[in-house]
Amino acid sequence: ESEPLVLGIETSCDETGVGIVRGHTLLADALASSVAEHARYGGVVPEVASRAHVAALVPTMQRALAEAGVRLADVDAIAVTAGPGLAGALLVGVAGAKGYALAAEKPLFGVNHLTAHVAVDTLQHGPLPEPAIALLVSGGHSSLLLVDDLAGRVRPLGATIDDAAGEAFDKVARLLGLPFPGGPPIDRAAREGDPEAIAFPRGLTAPKDLAEHPYDFSFSGLKTAVARWVEARQRAGEPVPMGDVAASFQEAVADVLTRKAVAACQAHGVSTLVIGGGVAANSRLRLLAEHRCARAGLTLRVPRPALCTDNGAMVAALGSHLVAAGAEPSRLDLPADSALP
Ligand code: KG4
Ligand code: ZN
Repeated sequence: ESEPLVLGIETSCDETGVGIVRGHTLLADALASSVAEHARYGGVVPEVASRAHVAALVPTMQRALAEAGVRLADVDAIAVTAGPGLAGALLVGVAGAKGYALAAEKPLFGVNHLTAHVAVDTLQHGPLPEPAIALLVSGGHSSLLLVDDLAGRVRPLGATIDDAAGEAFDKVARLLGLPFPGGPPIDRAAREGDPEAIAFPRGLTAPKDLAEHPYDFSFSGLKTAVARWVEARQRAGEPVPMGDVAASFQEAVADVLTRKAVAACQAHGVSTLVIGGGVAANSRLRLLAEHRCARAGLTLRVPRPALCTDNGAMVAALGSHLVAAGAEPSRLDLPADSALP
């Protein structure tokens, strides 16, 4: 077997993930989540997440190795998320990965969490055609990236100027009384609603904004508009049509994301759009992206929902790509960088 066996560790937020891949083939993807511990706070509590990673890392590692039927001694390299993310959470994975790398005498690769969200698609659809445009939408990020080379050159074209798309889903869910994280319950509620019932604003799409911020996003005005609309109904003593609010909000997010992603592909002469991050699990975003890419003659690649949210497989996928590209391993004093660009 000539393809490298790579193990990836992810601890940037609230999921402890260990994935194992051989080349582009996924062998194991073990996950432990502290999401339930954060639910009552309506968001991830960094200290709680860090402690949960400390408890979960080694057992998750054991599960992944068992699932793949390999030993640590068999792997060719260990990859770990070095940033961006929660500082204390990242430290657990980075420190753990260094320990494993040192003990097993394996090369260590510190990787960028956002690039890993793009790389995970290779596990489902094979090598990514380059250049590609990546739309990265998660709880912490909403970015459009020009991917010249997954192993090196990834350039940001734009990003959110306020809330991330996933953060908007979480905040709107909260004001609708839906549980955290808000994406999945809004996605479900929206199935019973009319996406055209309420005309919520599309941030940064006025002609002047498009000229100045062609690939940037803004979701805080949308969140405020939803809050005002719901409050007005409540003040009038009328019931809040949950399905219509969820569907109309979700439509506004999906509309702006797909419109700007397609525009970025066209402006840069790129024919492949890849979507990643937790919000890429959204059913309306996936459908609208499919329609608009088909109409524009673009190839769309979106990994299955389980690969979109944080996991160890995405880190292993990028690690495997780096090994294949002959990239230089990280040093064992690799820092965890919460603000990694
Ligand atoms: O990538 P991810 O798992 O973690 C971060 O790196 O942030 O993304 C989590 C985000 C949360 O905000 C969650 O509400 C959102 O992804 N999400 C969704 C869906 N599933 C998860 N948003 C919309 N629709 C979904 N089906
Ligand atoms: Zn993520």
